Amino acid sequence: MADLRREFPIFQAHPKLVYLDSAATTHKPACVIEALTRFYAEEYATVHRAIYRSSLAATDRYNETRETVRAFLNAPSSDEIIFTRGTTESLNLVASSYGRTHLKPGDEILVSEMEHHSNLVPWQMLAEQTGATLRWMPMQLDGTVEVNITPKTKLVAIAHVSNVTGTIHPIADIAKAAHRVGAILVVDGAQAAPHLPIDVQALDCDFYAFSGHKCYGPTGVGILYGKKTLLDTMPPIQGGGDMIERVTIEKTTYAAPPLRFEAGTPLIASVIALKPALDFLQQAGFAHEATLMPLLEQGLRTIPGLRILGHPPKKGPLVTFTIEGVHPLDLATLLDLDQIAIRTGHLCAQPALRKYGLDSAARASIGLYNTSSDIERFITVLKRSLVKLKPQ
Ligand SMILES: Cc1ncc(COP(=O)(O)O)c(C=O)c1O
Repeated sequence: MADLRREFPIFQAHPKLVYLDSAATTHKPACVIEALTRFYAEEYATVHRAIYRSSLAATDRYNETRETVRAFLNAPSSDEIIFTRGTTESLNLVASSYGRTHLKPGDEILVSEMEHHSNLVPWQMLAEQTGATLRWMPMQLDGTVEVNITPKTKLVAIAHVSNVTGTIHPIADIAKAAHRVGAILVVDGAQAAPHLPIDVQALDCDFYAFSGHKCYGPTGVGILYGKKTLLDTMPPIQGGGDMIERVTIEKTTYAAPPLRFEAGTPLIASVIALKPALDFLQQAGFAHEATLMPLLEQGLRTIPGLRILGHPPKKGPLVTFTIEGVHPLDLATLLDLDQIAIRTGHLCAQPALRKYGLDSAARASIGLYNTSSDIERFITVLKRSLVKLKPQ
């Protein structure tokens, strides 16, 4: 949308940029950049530890973001919102804290076959550490998964929206199936939070992770939502300042969640600037993405030899594709000469790509700043590039 695009200074610096890699990371609106600059230039102080006014003000703003995130996810309490460095750290926190203390040999960890490595490798490591067995929900070529929970399943991990096929998985149904056998459900919301309204109570998931930088916020800040009843049973994974209740030379008792999981001086500025990002995202809404997706898919379908990976019943605003006889890297290099940015490679989801017999693919993903003319230019330049790459 042209109006929204104007809010992003990057497009004033690079007016011809067609940015189709928002699934990797998003550009930042002026309100987020201003919040960061203002905090460092005029308001900077530490949080939690001091009684001078700038520190008290910074602590208030830090906590305001926690409340904003609570409302964004419709979580019951802001004590259930933990600040991390990103989705990856959030998922590793669940594996290292909940996983190591609740799983034992004979238990099953169930992941989908199409996960981002961030929602696969921590569970493989956890299986090695605890003796639990890692199993997977097989992926179908349409981009859906077969949910094969068994009585031995103790933990299920799946993305809300796939970064490969865009599949929106039926999280509330999977949560019911997991809870029926006493398992917990961990949701990787990295590709969902920027594009769908999220309600963790309606989904009834036990943990939900996402990254600020994919939601128009700064890098280095992520979120872990966890049900209070579970967080209360979990040990910290890092010791240090802020996470303690009382320390003697022999022993320490820990603060209650969320601070129990936020050792050390946090990413204060990034957390503070996440609030305007989430406010911006909520005000913008998701409607325009729904109008751009058909344009993108229809445009791509006019290209001979182009194959779109997956055709799930419901999907987020991204398309992963290959073109017969053309290496994705060559294609992306030519597109870049025209200032068109798409993602190529294994998309951090090697098992999913392998399912399609691929080790590399191209992905175009949509953000709030994209317009119909972005999509038209992408398709036109793509066709022109193919003439160079596939001379008749
Ligand atoms: C589905 C999914 N999960 C997890 C991640 C990891 O996010 P981060 O690198 O911000 O931790 C990504 C990032 O691309 C993703 O797409």
